[in-house]
Amino acid sequence: MTDDAPKATALLEKHHRELEKLFASLESAPVPKKRAILHDLATRLLAHMVIEEKIFYPRALGIDASKVLEGYEEHVVIRFALERALVTSPSDKTFDAKVKTVKDFLVNHDDEEEEELFPKVRRAMSIEAQRTLGAEMLSLFDKTRAAGWKATLDAEGPQVSTRVRKASARATGAAASS
Ligand SMILES: [Fe+2]
Ligand SMILES: [Fe+2]
Repeated sequence: MTDDAPKATALLEKHHRELEKLFASLESAPVPKKRAILHDLATRLLAHMVIEEKIFYPRALGIDASKVLEGYEEHVVIRFALERALVTSPSDKTFDAKVKTVKDFLVNHDDEEEEELFPKVRRAMSIEAQRTLGAEMLSLFDKTRAAGWKATLDAEGPQVSTRVRKASARATGAAASS
């Protein structure tokens, strides 16, 4: 059933290359075209992070917990930088700097995934398991991509702040009861 599905890490690496190309087109595009390219880039980048956070990272947690936990934190920073770019007009003098910040954080993050985490996952999982995981991720990617960047941010943003609120409430509760 999943014979022609991409292996999990091959799918993620393909996304990394596509995102690099979109950053290059964004950089060279004339100002009136930049917003549409950024929206396409944001949609793909968010869908990519969603499938890593919801499917790939939980599966890889038992393979390299420290790299995976670092990955979650880096996604938060990338999402924050991306949101700043999305609310900035391409004609604003800070637009290019904001886009470049997203790109720099992302390229560094993707390099670490490809050099340190993905090889360990490939060694730890059978080809069949990697394809099953790839098929699962591809399906969620298509669904998230179809929803678009705005719906994805709306769905993800409150979840992040709810988690943070719950964690700080627990921490405060623990401090108060100790
Ligand atoms: Fe990632
Ligand atoms: Fe990635």
